[in-house]
Amino acid sequence: MQTTRHASRATDRRHTRSAESSSFPWSLIPCYRCLLMLNLLSTDESRRLRAYFEESGYAEPTLKKHLGAAELPSRHLRNQARLLDRTSAPTTLNVLLRWFWLGLSQSRNLAEDLVPGDVLSLMLQAGLLKAEGDQLLPRAMLLHFDGFLIASDHASAIDRKQVEMVLWPNPTSKFLARFAVRRHSRATLDLGTGSGILSLVASRWSDSIVATDLNQRAVDCARFNARLNGVENIEVSAGDCFEPAKGRQFDLILSNPPFFITPQGDYLFCENPMELDGLCRRLVKEAHDYLNEGGYMQMLCEWAQIKGQPWEERVAEWLENTGCDAWVMKGLTQDPEEYAQQRIKETTEDASGDAAVYSGYMNYYRHRGVEAIHDGIIVMRRRAGNNWVRIEEVPHTPKGGELGPMIEATFAAHTLMQQIDSDVKLRALKPRMAPNVRLEQVCVQHQGEWRAESLTLQLVSGFPFHMNVQPLVAEFLVTCDGERTAGEAIEAFAGKANAPVDAVQTECLAIIRKLLERGFMVPA
Ligand SMILES: C[S@@+](CC[C@H](N)C(=O)[O-])C[C@H]1O[C@@H](n2cnc3c(N)ncnc32)[C@H](O)[C@@H]1O
Repeated sequence: MQTTRHASRATDRRHTRSAESSSFPWSLIPCYRCLLMLNLLSTDESRRLRAYFEESGYAEPTLKKHLGAAELPSRHLRNQARLLDRTSAPTTLNVLLRWFWLGLSQSRNLAEDLVPGDVLSLMLQAGLLKAEGDQLLPRAMLLHFDGFLIASDHASAIDRKQVEMVLWPNPTSKFLARFAVRRHSRATLDLGTGSGILSLVASRWSDSIVATDLNQRAVDCARFNARLNGVENIEVSAGDCFEPAKGRQFDLILSNPPFFITPQGDYLFCENPMELDGLCRRLVKEAHDYLNEGGYMQMLCEWAQIKGQPWEERVAEWLENTGCDAWVMKGLTQDPEEYAQQRIKETTEDASGDAAVYSGYMNYYRHRGVEAIHDGIIVMRRRAGNNWVRIEEVPHTPKGGELGPMIEATFAAHTLMQQIDSDVKLRALKPRMAPNVRLEQVCVQHQGEWRAESLTLQLVSGFPFHMNVQPLVAEFLVTCDGERTAGEAIEAFAGKANAPVDAVQTECLAIIRKLLERGFMVPA
């Protein structure tokens, strides 16, 4: 699992300049000065605009084909030339792409030839475009995610030290969206909404959503995006952390907060402004009061590992006495050197000051004894009673698919196993192998024959956990069919193996417990 934030980087001025010699009638001035300041359109105006983008082919399924690969202009990918070439014919779609994908200004004359007057007026009124002389400059980037069209700052804003940037749909927001628990929610909170991407996604299963952000530009942007996409159940408020939601409780809280652990905390959209990982800790500590009983909070985060501490210790302290069950899934671990280099690369364009910036990072970590930085996702569920906390490193997150069902199943399994606190209770349970389990056998050649070397239980959906088992154990497990109790299955197995029940029971129950906790087995 890796939650590295910036998928794509800025338009490079050098590349853009060289393209100015193009014989096509495009003005290729990158819009380094333009700030996203969106004005809310009416419902009808928003509908018209959205429909126009779709009609013009500025739609999720067509863009990939049109651009070759639907990636943003990126210095690292060196794709500027290809994107310019792909969008070189003077068509409506190319005008839209050059504005809202590449972030380039276009001449007003050309735009007026290709884009209907009422649509141009709406774009100007909304603040998606700004007129400057004979040029129309884009002030937003427009990307698709999950059927929504989402305005944000252009990815190049990061290179302009645009500290209050409104983040575009990026790998972290998409990652959290995949983990979201998608059962019906009476009320959802999206804390640090940015463009509103998570609110839009959650609007599909939530009666109402409160989206909050400290950045007023993000608040305006999230409101604009809700209206642009015809979503009416999102209420957007400005404020710090939970403050705009004071006195309210939610079935689901989603948060992709600014979690980078850096010395300066300048960038509102990505840098933790408190000491080390303090903001994430604060959100964990305060979550309980904003959750309904049984409600989930899901948050991406990073935490520091301090010299002499086990890696889990710091995050374990966050989760003490929260009134919630919690599952921390640790992803990537980086040492401070590696981490500093990565973050500097992501937030600084000009390499000339790197030495000073790097030493600022390293001094910050050294003085605080930071040995490593971990990223991960924390899922909490408010539950009265004796809470459990599970903190673990998880395998690489599988590509594609929603992971919410795995989250719910894991919480259900853990809570059940906490209740089944004796062998007597476990013997009475009717477990069966989960449908997403496979048994894989590896054989090696031995004297002209295949000889079984290992047997492994594999989960083929959710996290790809695996567990080696002995052949006899595999044989026993498959007899747990959800019809008979674990006790009955153990007795039958002992009979078949010609062994006393007492001799096999302890091991059988231990493995059933482990498999239930991991999701390899489920209760009938
Ligand atoms: C990493 S961005 C996530 C944006 C969006 N949710 C997404 O997933 O793309 C973090 C957001 O949190 C906002 N933010 C930063 N500090 C905050 C605070 N103290 N309270 C509320 N929002 C904050 C930032 O302005 C930014 O929009």
